[in-house]
Amino acid sequence: MRSQLGGRTVVITGAASGIGLACAHAFLAEGARVGLVDRAPIPHLDGDVVAVRADVTDERELGAALGTVVQRFGRLAAVVGCAGISGPVGTPLAQTPAAEIAEVLAVNVTGQLLLVKQAQPYLADDASIVLLGSDSAFTAAPGMVPYCASKGAVVALTRALAVELPGTRVNCVCPSVVDTPMARADLGDLAFAAPAFPVQSAEDVARQVLYLASPLSRPVNGQALLADFGLSSRSAFPA
Ligand SMILES: NC(=O)c1ccc[n+]([C@@H]2O[C@H](COP(=O)([O-])OP(=O)(O)OC[C@H]3O[C@@H](n4cnc5c(N)ncnc54)[C@H](O)[C@@H]3O)[C@@H](O)[C@H]2O)c1
Repeated sequence: MRSQLGGRTVVITGAASGIGLACAHAFLAEGARVGLVDRAPIPHLDGDVVAVRADVTDERELGAALGTVVQRFGRLAAVVGCAGISGPVGTPLAQTPAAEIAEVLAVNVTGQLLLVKQAQPYLADDASIVLLGSDSAFTAAPGMVPYCASKGAVVALTRALAVELPGTRVNCVCPSVVDTPMARADLGDLAFAAPAFPVQSAEDVARQVLYLASPLSRPVNGQALLADFGLSSRSAFPA
């Protein structure tokens, strides 16, 4: 089953690492022309690639980055928002400085809104937008309230944008723990040595993104794909 994105233009934020980088590889393998955006240095990838350094919270910088990609490769068939931060992990809200709350919301929420806003003039007629949410939109571990709130907002803004943007599909993926530099920094390498919880790979998530970005998912719009190995489906009843 091919994605039908060969020769089409895809832009990915957060493309320097983890899920964004895995998405870049997945779209390139489909023959897409890929624009990579990140505030960190972006690794060299072979293929039809243009890499631009930009911070997703800086509207002007982000808009210029998207313009560079479109000028090189043409209108956007898919926009993938992977840039994100976890912010404080294991810190109760009472001890979380306001500046750290603001930073999580700026990157994870405002960054996604600015991405869609700035991409809008460049979208192809059949464009698909895929944003990275998280299972943290639906379930919580203590000490990550700002992150959970930010991902809940991604689910809400996904639905709102799906209603607001005629002809453009907007969906988000909401994975449980993914083995990436972010998760290892948060949980420690030891947690991934013999994990007591199911772990998915960045490539697993990239395949979910690829499906939602592709015309193959044409009727799917405004949805949050909760990929958590079914854990959130379990009843409180101990059976
Ligand atoms: N790793 C997980 O367990 C997990 C689970 C669910 C959802 N997610 C989400 O997936 C997305 C990708 O996370 P990851 O695990 O690949 O993390 P990662 O840290 O490996 O990659 C995130 C990338 O985003 C970039 N970035 C951060 N802030 C930015 C900004 N302001 N402007 C531009 N680029 C910026 C970073 O430089 C980095 O390259 C995030 O939105 C994250 O919340 C991750």
